[in-house]
Amino acid sequence: MHETVNVNLPGRAYDVLIGTGLLAEAGTHIAPLLKRSRVVIISDENVAALHLDSLQDGLRANGIDSAAMTLPAGEATKSWPHLMACTDWLLDQKVERGDIVVALGGGVIGDLVGFAAAILRRGVRFVQVPTSLLAQVDSSVGGKTGINARHGKNLIGAFHQPSLVLADVGVLGTLRPRDFLAGYGEVVKYGLLGDAAFFDWLEGQGPKLAAGDVPARIEAVRRSVQMKADIVSRDETEQGERALLNLGHTFCHALEAATGYSDRLFHGEGVAVGCALAFALSARLGLCSQEDPSRVRAHLRDMGMKTDLADIDGELPGPQALLELMGQDKKVVQGQLRFVLARGIGDAFVTGDVPTQAILDVLRDG
Ligand SMILES: NC(=O)c1ccc[n+]([C@@H]2O[C@H](COP(=O)([O-])OP(=O)(O)OC[C@H]3O[C@@H](n4cnc5c(N)ncnc54)[C@H](O)[C@@H]3O)[C@@H](O)[C@H]2O)c1
Repeated sequence: MHETVNVNLPGRAYDVLIGTGLLAEAGTHIAPLLKRSRVVIISDENVAALHLDSLQDGLRANGIDSAAMTLPAGEATKSWPHLMACTDWLLDQKVERGDIVVALGGGVIGDLVGFAAAILRRGVRFVQVPTSLLAQVDSSVGGKTGINARHGKNLIGAFHQPSLVLADVGVLGTLRPRDFLAGYGEVVKYGLLGDAAFFDWLEGQGPKLAAGDVPARIEAVRRSVQMKADIVSRDETEQGERALLNLGHTFCHALEAATGYSDRLFHGEGVAVGCALAFALSARLGLCSQEDPSRVRAHLRDMGMKTDLADIDGELPGPQALLELMGQDKKVVQGQLRFVLARGIGDAFVTGDVPTQAILDVLRDG
């Protein structure tokens, strides 16, 4: 049983299937894309140990052979050395222009393997099989691929849309609770940026969803993916509206840099803290009511998530140093920082017009 969301890009439209049992059915869904009955799969060691066999069995059931490569888990894998290892292995496997590369894993694997597919032989097709909540609701959809640089996150990459996304919510059951909740940070982001009714729904259903309720998980992933698909269809390369999806990310990227992309702060946790800070900044600037940031923080707290800078383990640089780290963000335009702020829950907008002192104040109080 699955739901389907279509990403409607001219000439590159694709489906995102969301449901259970999709790994077992992978062969049925991937076969129509193939020119020969063989795929290559790249995964990370955690995911491969848990789910690679099911995927390969699902492919074999449709007569599809597969070879697999396993990389270390973690953000550090989104780097030049691992990109090179991927492309070398894909060439060793004699992957041709018409073949399909499968990315089985969280956002790290999806971003890295998508980028490898984008540059291999000037572009081969790939299928995303996202296994973390974050990857199912966000990173597997929309075609942003890439790796991190010494200068910051995701600074080297390409837009390369997948040919299909198989989001099997059954695999979310093996996520560590902390990884699940990190992904929930991106789910909340959708409600906050453009769908107040979804945020209301999450306030009611969030705890059930975290406890493992499958229909609630399917619904949360479907609504998130639908919103992302709609935005990406209208603005694939982020000339305008797509930037709304970066709610919380300018703060998040600075915090990730400050914590060395380490276990101190997962990306989705940084997004949640970043959303709380973006609402605090919006209220400070008189754009939304004071109740809005309180409501955002209350929901994140109810879910057992990090909401404040003080929730991040260890020392953080001061406000001025964090501000400088924000200056490395891709969203800097002509030297000016771009922020996603909100007029209320579900009503975000992008602006470059934010007084530096207000940002520093929020960072000092956050
Ligand atoms: N391309 C985009 O549009 C986009 C959007 C948002 C985030 N991202 C990127 O996504 C990355 C974060 O993604 P993530 O949170 O999925 O991180 P991740 O890929 O590191 O996965 C988190 C952890 O969960 C493990 N894991 C994944 N699925 C599992 C499962 N089913 N069972 C058990 N363990 C599992 C992984 O091995 C890893 O240890 C960041 O690099 C971020 O920049 C990209």
